[in-house]
Amino acid sequence: MVTFEGVTDYGRDYAMHLDNQDRLGHLRKEFIIPTKADLKSKTLAHLASNSEDGDQPCIYFCGNSLGLQPRRTSERITSHLISWAKKGVYGHFTPHEDTNLPPYLHVDDLAARLMAPLVGALPEEVAVMQTLTANLHLMMASFYRPTRSKFKIILEGKAFPSDHYAVESQIRHHGFDPKEAMILIEPESSESPTISTSHIQSMIADHASSTALILLPGVQYYTGQYLDIERITAYAHDLDLLIGWDLAHAVGNVPLQLDEWNVDFAVWCNYKYVNSGPGVIGGLFVHSRHGEVESSTRRKGSAAFRPRLSGWWGGDKSIRFEMGSEFVPRPGAAGFQLSNPSALDLTAIIASLEIFALTSMVAMRNKSISLTGYLEDLLLHAPATATYDNDCLPYQIITPSKSGERGAQLSLLLKPGLLENVMKALEDVGVVVDERKPNVIRVAPAPLYNTFTEVWDFVHIFVAACLKAQMGESNGSQEVMAFKGQKEKGWAQIK
Ligand SMILES: Cc1ncc(COP(=O)(O)O)c(C=O)c1O
Repeated sequence: MVTFEGVTDYGRDYAMHLDNQDRLGHLRKEFIIPTKADLKSKTLAHLASNSEDGDQPCIYFCGNSLGLQPRRTSERITSHLISWAKKGVYGHFTPHEDTNLPPYLHVDDLAARLMAPLVGALPEEVAVMQTLTANLHLMMASFYRPTRSKFKIILEGKAFPSDHYAVESQIRHHGFDPKEAMILIEPESSESPTISTSHIQSMIADHASSTALILLPGVQYYTGQYLDIERITAYAHDLDLLIGWDLAHAVGNVPLQLDEWNVDFAVWCNYKYVNSGPGVIGGLFVHSRHGEVESSTRRKGSAAFRPRLSGWWGGDKSIRFEMGSEFVPRPGAAGFQLSNPSALDLTAIIASLEIFALTSMVAMRNKSISLTGYLEDLLLHAPATATYDNDCLPYQIITPSKSGERGAQLSLLLKPGLLENVMKALEDVGVVVDERKPNVIRVAPAPLYNTFTEVWDFVHIFVAACLKAQMGESNGSQEVMAFKGQKEKGWAQIK
């Protein structure tokens, strides 16, 4: 049985103490935290009435999937709707004194400016546009230019399916065989699903002479592993290879320095840690060296720029409405845009980015490291029950244990057969996490709106749910009661 030597306190009071000291704690009120009743309600009418009154908030640890709604989002969107309703097409050009929302023509530039600090980029290296998979295709159209001898794309074997499909289809599109051209990096050991930097490097080295592009995740969606973007990018460049990053789980989660790290390109979505709403448009980064447009040739008929799939919104803004048929891109990432973007989407993104501007990625990361570290610590000490000890936990944390190698998320691999019942038990009491079948639960406390007390409560509920699922309803309920009794005492006293 585990003991707690050297540990000051595992009680709930300690979690509350951590919340009191939390310098970002005030940001929680910027978000609408669904209540337990909200989650159960079958009607929107109930939700529209002020359902937060007197109702308990749920524990929402699913910002890795869909971030919560900022309170200011509806206010900003209402402003946008008013301008559209009252100005019609003039809304494209007309600024209003009492809102920071620019006319629709320029709203993409504001979104890129606000997004740049999240990814460590110059504003002109960022475009807020399209969706992640579409952006991936657009980037590959520009950066995957295979030849007979250099045609491979290196990616991870357990890449998010959309990335896998996008890569496979690009390879076929260029007339190559995915069996030869897709180089899949698998974990080096069956004991762990994570991939070491040295293993990635050796795979890159093995295929360097025939590789046209590398695509990797910043934070891996399944394991939560945070890859060493800077080192791997430098390694690829030493071998003269281009490298792009899928930052779906990294943006708004870990501080990034894409410009300084010399990343060639990156793509991401804004509905996870960027809290901008389901399916909202995504973003991309193109390093300034790839976004250049030779100034001497601009407007002269033979502009020199990186090849790409083009659309009018990527064209030189100063001549956009001259409606010429020669495409001259805007310099930078904006020159990769295709269509005029949804001002509605951009408004939601701007509302959320205003909250990020109230703090910094470094401050958020500091809190995130503490919050996720606390979660890990409690999960590993959870055996302090009548049933479990450290050696027979019904779950294993498959996310790296070093804070520098992970973001907010911990992925918990449950013993076979537990997932469904555990998820049901969590849902019943208003705890929101997500599952990856057959046996993984992803738990992601977000530093902008989650608290240490929620982490403490989650672990207790989760362990009780595991006990119940493991022992079956009849025996389990007794165990859960015993566990609940311990909860009152705090874990420091449980030996
Ligand atoms: C890692 C990763 N890549 C790609 C995608 C696909 O994103 P989208 O549907 O916005 O194209 C997701 C979606 O969750 C993801 O998590």
